[in-house]
Amino acid sequence: MAKITLSIIKADIGSIGGHIKPSQKLIQTVKNFIKEKGKGLIIDHYIGHTGDDIAILTTHKKGVLNKKIHKLCWDAFLAGTKVAKAQGLYGAGQDLLVEAFSENVKGMGPQVAEMEIEERESEPFLMFVADKTEPGAYNLPLYLAFTDPMYCAGLILSPKIKKGFKFVIMDVASTEADKIIELVTPEETYDVACLLRDTGRFVVESIWSRATGEQVVAASTTRLHNIAGKYVGKDDPVMLARAQHGFPATGEIISPYTLGHFVSGFMRGSHIGPLMPVKKNSSISFFDGPPVVNCLAFSMKNGKLTEPADVFDHPYWDFIRMKVAQKAEEIRKQGFSGPSMLPMTELEYTGVTETLKKLEKRFVIRK
Ligand code: F6R
Ligand code: MG
Ligand code: MG
Repeated sequence: MAKITLSIIKADIGSIGGHIKPSQKLIQTVKNFIKEKGKGLIIDHYIGHTGDDIAILTTHKKGVLNKKIHKLCWDAFLAGTKVAKAQGLYGAGQDLLVEAFSENVKGMGPQVAEMEIEERESEPFLMFVADKTEPGAYNLPLYLAFTDPMYCAGLILSPKIKKGFKFVIMDVASTEADKIIELVTPEETYDVACLLRDTGRFVVESIWSRATGEQVVAASTTRLHNIAGKYVGKDDPVMLARAQHGFPATGEIISPYTLGHFVSGFMRGSHIGPLMPVKKNSSISFFDGPPVVNCLAFSMKNGKLTEPADVFDHPYWDFIRMKVAQKAEEIRKQGFSGPSMLPMTELEYTGVTETLKKLEKRFVIRK
């Protein structure tokens, strides 16, 4: 059986009325580009948007970080950016941080999650796309789905899942080179927790089954802030997760999203807000948020995709969305105060530091 690579490459290249959603024309341009230029290169694709971001999922046989695949998506975003500029969309081309394409899009602005897999007889997998938040947003849901039997019943019910997982975690503060650590659960679960609590610093890059050695999860780890050295929008991470048959079930992987846990992002990428699980092609609204995550389930055969099943499009999640909205409202009530706004080091705008610099001169030491 030939290996298949799943690649999600995602960028914000402009949206209507601020940061609400891309225009139909922009999405159509990206779709047409991939459909046409991807011929002979990719097996299949799916394109959708979550908030102001356009995510391109492709299946192919070229492996991860393949120059041709990455260039295809980069060029699709460039073609889209032209339309975004022509339509006067806001933030046209905002995530394309460099002028010229080199080897792959890593470190160039777009978010990437890829894995090369030996396709199983039936290959159910999930595509997660989040907006108005950062890569660390997946830390807690991954921790709970892969280490905690309160969320993943398979950890006690399935002997294969019970063998545990290997977490590959990246220290995203290292900008010179990729700095990673491998930890195995259940033995090192507390060490995993110790790192993953710090969502701005340590981010899950991949998860592997200890029973079979197969990769189960690939998540994006790029922090735009660290690349550009200044605010250029939040990182809005993507993730791939294979489900079922020795891996956590789809229902287990998504079960932690019931929490609507607090993440960084929201207005000006500078606040804390609960992560709301939303339906396919949802837009951004209240306070440039709330932070949202969307999950599409696919099946595939020889790299050919089914249509997506919209995982959070279910009455259960309507109930959760109401609760998450309430959490969002509660934290927003305290505006800039305390934990509602991010600490100085994480603020995506310079206003506060500039004010402090100015006021510093007016502070006096009382005699
Ligand atoms: C957050 C985000 C928005 C903008 C905000 C102000 O990721 O993109 O919340 O930060 O709309 O945008 P500017 O400064 O461009 O007016
Ligand atoms: Mg945007
Ligand atoms: Mg975005």
